[in-house]
Amino acid sequence: MSLFDKCRAFRAYAETVRQAVGDPFYPPVQRYTAEGAVMGNEPRAMFGGNNYLGLARDARVVAAGVQALERYGTSSTGSRSMNGNLALHETLEAELADFFGKPAALVFATGYQTNLGVLSSMCRAQDTVVVDEYVHASLLDGARLSGARVRSFLHSDPRDLARVLEAHSDTAGNLLVVVDGVYSMEGDIAPLPELVAVARRQGATVLVDDAHGAGVLGREGRGTCSLHGVATDVDLITVTFSKAFASVGGAVLGDAEAVDYMRYTARSQLYSAASTPADTAAALAALRIARTEPWRGEHAVAHARRLASGLAGMGYRVVGGATPIRCVRFRDDLQVFKAWRAVMDAGVYTNPVVPPVASPRLRLSCTAAHTEQDLTRALDAFERVAAAFVDPREDER
Ligand SMILES: Cc1ncc(COP(=O)(O)O)c(C=O)c1O
Repeated sequence: MSLFDKCRAFRAYAETVRQAVGDPFYPPVQRYTAEGAVMGNEPRAMFGGNNYLGLARDARVVAAGVQALERYGTSSTGSRSMNGNLALHETLEAELADFFGKPAALVFATGYQTNLGVLSSMCRAQDTVVVDEYVHASLLDGARLSGARVRSFLHSDPRDLARVLEAHSDTAGNLLVVVDGVYSMEGDIAPLPELVAVARRQGATVLVDDAHGAGVLGREGRGTCSLHGVATDVDLITVTFSKAFASVGGAVLGDAEAVDYMRYTARSQLYSAASTPADTAAALAALRIARTEPWRGEHAVAHARRLASGLAGMGYRVVGGATPIRCVRFRDDLQVFKAWRAVMDAGVYTNPVVPPVASPRLRLSCTAAHTEQDLTRALDAFERVAAAFVDPREDER
């Protein structure tokens, strides 16, 4: 038995897929254009990013990044706690706290590190972390790293949450309920009022990861907690800058004492370099634009609604809620990969998703920057290949 046996087994699987459709993961983008992305020397309409507000190539955001590069250089060259803390990080924290209506914020280098740091520093071995079965991997990894007991409840099901919390109500430690505001692979919104009410009844603390809702949903894009009027009832909110905020990085928002505690104890913060000046400045510029141009989130959601109704009309099985994300479900992995290839060849970039990430599907995400022409192009591409992938018998199963 060698450490590398699993690599050989994986390679055999990957080769089968590559021979059938090419490599569906890590497809390189040569450059972005106003119309989308150029890949393999061909233009593609981009329905595979998380650039929900269409700000990732906005001239104002790009200029903010360039100015920061010129002013501070390329790198912070160390952890914020040692030498990498910029006034820019603290300005961003103050504006995030104000925007999301929380007393304090702490900026991390990525969204993944935010969740890892928050959960691993806030929870202990005697605590129980109760997660929605579909929460993002970064939350699960953080919970596991903390040593706490991790239990899951059925997706967005308040009754099942109550059942799991009751089963652990006698344990000595604390209870933490962890959910996403918007589920990345389902495109649906968590029923936060019901979930928060159940958590409160059991005396549990609540964390909402709003990576996909922040900047998009709620008043002026204040996120899923604001949309549902529960921002003050949710104890901790985490966000990422890699989606609506057109950059890379993340933040936790909450009570000043808790945020200060994490500032000094979250290992993914202490032992990793600060986000770069350009990334931080770009996120700050995007946040300011998001506040003043709330139509952007609304447009992204409206585009997804139009896309979904067109796809459903062709017989595709589409899932998602009032968000910019929709998923088209398929029977098995191979169908997903074949559909991904066919749609890509028809000029549209989407994301193939297979187990263990989620059941087989193509993930599509809309942005405020999409035009009528982009949507038509996507719908035309799916229509052209529908005969090969829409199985009317699926509905009967
Ligand atoms: C729900 C959720 N949380 C956290 C993250 C991690 O964020 P980042 O990619 O910015 O590190 C992601 C990214 O995919 C996500 O979808």
